Amino acid sequence: MAVAPAASTIGAEVSGVDLHGDIDDELAAEIRAALDEHGVLVFVGQDAVDDEAQKRIASVWAAPRPHPIVEFLGSDEVIGVVYNDADHPPAEGGDSKFHTDYSFNPEIPDVAVLRPVVIPPVGGATVWSDARAALAALDDDLVDELRGRVAHHDMGPRFGVEMEARFGAELAARIEARFGAGYRHPIVAVHPRTGDELLFVNAGFTRYVLGLPRARSDALLSRLLEAFADPAISFSRRWRPGDVAVWDEHRTVHRGPNDFAPHARKLHRCTAGSRRPTASTETA
Ligand SMILES: [Fe+2]
Repeated sequence: MAVAPAASTIGAEVSGVDLHGDIDDELAAEIRAALDEHGVLVFVGQDAVDDEAQKRIASVWAAPRPHPIVEFLGSDEVIGVVYNDADHPPAEGGDSKFHTDYSFNPEIPDVAVLRPVVIPPVGGATVWSDARAALAALDDDLVDELRGRVAHHDMGPRFGVEMEARFGAELAARIEARFGAGYRHPIVAVHPRTGDELLFVNAGFTRYVLGLPRARSDALLSRLLEAFADPAISFSRRWRPGDVAVWDEHRTVHRGPNDFAPHARKLHRCTAGSRRPTASTETA
């Protein structure tokens, strides 16, 4: 296995691993160590990878799990399809903003695995930013203040509308009742394996900081989200045939810029593991 860093702080290309083959304990440990170091791994040159191979690489970390909404609806399908074209544009403000998958929920996945099925002729990259580097870029005094602070995450005002369009009014009401309230997470979280401190807010789902007047909360949150926008701590991958990307949901945020219209883009995604982000002040 060869690991080549692809950007300054996160992202690496991995070659010499066949995801169709067996991943023994030694190789799995090597792959996990590479993800802990780089945050995002793109396995390149994977011919004809299928959903089974995608689940196999996810299982290097933990058991694959369905999206929490899919699971709530009684399905055990762990492969999700991300599809957009001219008639099905990406949801407004959703995946196009930096986010941590499912942070509107108490637990987030350990990892996500994404592979392209239809690659648009222009654009369509996935972009990640480094939550460890984002925190490290903040002033020490600010980080001290953030430790122990909590932010509210939810799916936002368009959530109900989108769920209704997708599942109908009755299911949408049940989903809203289960997930609509969102969840409160520590702003400084500790990585479950490396112990590194991470900035745990995201533009997709974080709405406000608890215990602050609205104006101060808005100002603080925009300052924190701004830290992720620095290209120096991000990694962008324009999908190529044979790519399979794995990322650490705690260490990174990700987004899919809506820059490929009117072309189609189709990706298969799989997440594995489920864990509550832990505050730096708690004992893990
Ligand atoms: Fe996502």
